[in-house]
Amino acid sequence: MRSSLLLGLMFLCQRQSRCQGSSMLAAQTDRVMALGEWEERWQEGRIGFHQLHVHKMLESNIDKVLAGRTGVRFFFPLCGKAIDMKWLADMGHSVVGVEVAEKAIREFFQESNLTYSEEPVPAIPGAKLYKSSERNISLYQCDIYSFSSSIEGQFGAIWDRGSLVAINPRDREKYASLIMSLMAKDCRYLLDTLLYNPELYKGPPFFVPDEQVHSLFGSHYDIELLQSVDALTDRQRAWGLDSLTENVHLITPKSS
Ligand SMILES: C[S@@+](CC[C@H](N)C(=O)[O-])C[C@H]1O[C@@H](n2cnc3c(N)ncnc32)[C@H](O)[C@@H]1O
Ligand SMILES: *[C@@H]1O[C@H](CO)[C@@H](O)[C@H](O)[C@H]1NC(C)=O
Ligand SMILES: *[C@@H]1O[C@H](CO)[C@@H](O)[C@H](O)[C@H]1NC(C)=O
Repeated sequence: MRSSLLLGLMFLCQRQSRCQGSSMLAAQTDRVMALGEWEERWQEGRIGFHQLHVHKMLESNIDKVLAGRTGVRFFFPLCGKAIDMKWLADMGHSVVGVEVAEKAIREFFQESNLTYSEEPVPAIPGAKLYKSSERNISLYQCDIYSFSSSIEGQFGAIWDRGSLVAINPRDREKYASLIMSLMAKDCRYLLDTLLYNPELYKGPPFFVPDEQVHSLFGSHYDIELLQSVDALTDRQRAWGLDSLTENVHLITPKSS
C-alpha cells in the first residue's frame, strides 16, 4: 500500500514540473557547456535568449531593487548584450558586467549607440575591459570565475537573468560564493530562475528549483519570491517542454 502511494506521488512529481524534488536535479548535473560553445553561439547568432526589450520582471520589480536609492552600482553576471544595462545607466545607475563573448560586448555598445574604450585588465590575464564613454557601463570580457571583488569592489544590486540558470550545474556553489562575495551590505540581488521538467530538455537554460536557491543563499540571506509567471512560449515548446515557470527572487542580507 505504502509503496503504491509513493509511486503515485512520484508519478505526480514527474507530471508536474513545479515539483521541486531534489531528485529532479540529477537529470542535468553532469551537463557541461564549454566557454568555447558559448562563443560559438554568439558567432553563429544562436542567441535566442537575447531580448529586444527591457526584461519585464526587472521593470516590474525595479522599485524593490532600488529601495529608494539613486546612483546604485549594478552587477550583471554573464551579461550578454542585455539592453537592461543601458536602461539602468540611462537612469543614472552604474553597471559592471562580465561576459566571455567579445562579440556580445561589442554588439551591446554598437546597438546602444555608445562609444567605448578598450583596455587590458592587469589583474586578470587575457581579460579586457570595455568602457562606455557616455555612461557608467564597464564590461569585462573574461570567465566569470576570474572576476572578484578585488577588481571592482562590491555592488549595491545584482540582476541575474540567464546567469545562474546558464552556468554549468556542477558550478553552482562556486558561482554562489562568488556572487555573495560581490554583495555589499545593502545589496539587493534580483535572481531569475526557471522551473521545468529537466527530463524533457537538457539545457541551458537549466532547471533551478527554489529549494536550491534556498540551499545556496539561505543561510546568510533572506529570500523573497517576488513573482512566479507562466513563461512557456513556442520557443520552449520546440525544446520539448510542456510547462515553464519563471520565478524572480529578491535576495538580501539577513538583517540580524
Ligand atoms: C543565457 S545568456 C544570458 C545573457 C544575458 N544575461 C541576457 O539575459 O540576455 C548567458 C551568457 O553568459 C555567457 N557566459 C557563459 N558562461 C560564462 C562564463 N563562465 N563567464 C562569462 N560569461 C559566460 C555566454 O556567452 C552568454 O552570453
Ligand atoms: C541607435 O541609433 C539608430 C540610428 O540613429 C537608431 O535607429 C536606434 O534607435 C538607436 N538605438 C538606441 C538604443 O538608441
Ligand atoms: C558616473 O558615476 C559617477 C559616480 O557615481 C558620477 O559622478 C558620474 O556623473 C557618472 N557619469 C555618467 C556619465 O553618468
